[in-house]
Amino acid sequence: MDAGNQERQGVTSIESKGPTREFQISYEKIWRDFLPSELQEVPGPVKILSVACGFGLELKSLKKIFDEVKKPVEIEGIEKQSVGGTRLFNPDIPPENFHQADATDPNSFGNRQWDLVILRNPQVDPRGITMREEWVKILENSVKAVAENGFLFLTTFTPKEMEAVHHFLSQQADLKSVVEPQDITRGMLANFPMRENKIALYKKISPQAELNKSV
Ligand SMILES: C[S@@+](CC[C@H](N)C(=O)[O-])C[C@H]1O[C@@H](n2cnc3c(N)ncnc32)[C@H](O)[C@@H]1O
Repeated sequence: MDAGNQERQGVTSIESKGPTREFQISYEKIWRDFLPSELQEVPGPVKILSVACGFGLELKSLKKIFDEVKKPVEIEGIEKQSVGGTRLFNPDIPPENFHQADATDPNSFGNRQWDLVILRNPQVDPRGITMREEWVKILENSVKAVAENGFLFLTTFTPKEMEAVHHFLSQQADLKSVVEPQDITRGMLANFPMRENKIALYKKISPQAELNKSV
């Protein structure tokens, strides 16, 4: 069996059973609870980017949810390591949409913007005192990559990480926290070995438009 087939077989077995399958079911619930309904009103396809996407485990359930309501989506991912596994794990997403690129480099985003940017588990300094320089750059690039009125969805493994990230994002003038950091350790995700603990959602706003509203 060639390496590609072996990889495919491995991915098929982890995606169809075990914790990865449970993870997908959990993520379906999370999206149903937290996905802003405004995304369905976006003209044309909803543009979604998962930054440092790894296998892009959450993307399958996201695609399924939009498919159900027949809302077209364009899902992409950026990952520093190989995107071979990501492509195999998400066969319903065109393989060329997963880019092997460094998210600390603004050029990896090509000056483009997305309606939903996902940043799951950026693994900032778990002590929560300072964030690693690399992740600050990734956060900055991710914020820039959110279109106006678009959303940044964020999760962290630990409350300390979320504290650090939330503090950083709260200082961005064009971001508004729409779902305050909260616990998502519930349901089946609680049994997932790489479980996330905290979730938060931010909306990109135009500071000028907000000012006009308040006058
Ligand atoms: C803890 S994993 C999270 C993966 C995925 N987002 C998830 O939650 O399943 C962190 C991921 O960040 C990726 N990563 C680290 N630094 C990166 C960078 N500079 N650019 C892009 N990806 C990066 C790693 O390769 C790894 O896949």
